Amino acid sequence: MPNTTLRATSDSETSMTEKAAPSSTARGVSVEFQQVNHSFLHGNRPVRVLNDFNLRIEPSEFVSIVGPSGCGKTTALGMVGNLLKPRAGQVLIDGHKVRPDSNEAAFLFARDALLPWRRVRSNVELGMETRGVPKEERRVRAEEWLRKVRLHEFADSDVLHLSQGMRQRVAIARTLVQNPKVLLMDEPFAALDAQTRAIQQEEFTRLWEAERPTVIFVTHDLEEAILLSDRVILMASRPGRMVVDMKIELERPRRQEMRRESDLFKSYFHDMSDRLRSEVELAEQRIREENQNG
Ligand SMILES: Nc1ncnc2c1ncn2[C@@H]1O[C@H](COP(=O)(O)OP(=O)(O)OP(=O)(O)O)[C@@H](O)[C@H]1O
Ligand SMILES: [Mg+2]
Repeated sequence: MPNTTLRATSDSETSMTEKAAPSSTARGVSVEFQQVNHSFLHGNRPVRVLNDFNLRIEPSEFVSIVGPSGCGKTTALGMVGNLLKPRAGQVLIDGHKVRPDSNEAAFLFARDALLPWRRVRSNVELGMETRGVPKEERRVRAEEWLRKVRLHEFADSDVLHLSQGMRQRVAIARTLVQNPKVLLMDEPFAALDAQTRAIQQEEFTRLWEAERPTVIFVTHDLEEAILLSDRVILMASRPGRMVVDMKIELERPRRQEMRRESDLFKSYFHDMSDRLRSEVELAEQRIREENQNG
């Protein structure tokens, strides 16, 4: 099980958790892919995307999935988030099949998808509004989350006036304010510049350490996966399947310096980077062959 110890933050540190009281209990639940198979039609030819995909994620675990483009990462997330059903096998959340009306899982994408005609506060309230949370409660919860992401003084601002990093923090607040038990993150920091991305990674992990939903985090960035996760899953493509399941035992809280200073970090990276590279090259080779064969 991941370490649940919270780090005491000093005044000089810029942390989103400074004002955030940690939840008394971690709220994550388990997620399980059992013998999942899936295919899509390309023209009239079915292309197998996931092949006997098995993965169990423990409650409150932070698991990253890396793998070549097209190996089925987004497809797998979509099954947990009730966007699509596996053609065979099953996906379980907290031991039960994903329910059509389930709100246990919430998404966070690279594109923040904020509504430009709404103010910051009312963007944060959006999901709660859809779920019928009363107005007063929406206000209080949005306020609390805007503090946690250090944007409370921008509550009445136009989202178009925020930086990219601030916009992504609004999106994080909008998602986490709904208390999801499972957080599905599809390349959430991919659109950010390197510096903003590093800040977001560190701040997001601190928020996660306080709230502890189960996270499934998809990324193309192996360093990011290692830095944030309890486990990194490497997938191969056509059909998508798991080829590496690596437990990451770096201490928490994680810090950016670990990339350079931790031998353990470097050994994880070393162990997985060649394998990831060869899977990416294999996937490209296959696309080339398919292209040549029409
Ligand atoms: N709705 C769809 N209809 C047809 N094919 C699809 C559909 N969604 C995905 N695919 C195909 O399924 C395969 C897996 O797609 P998926 O989006 O899950 O990959 P991914 O691993 O998330 O890739 P990326 O890293 O590029 O985001 C790809 O070949 C894609 O073209
Ligand atoms: Mg994808």
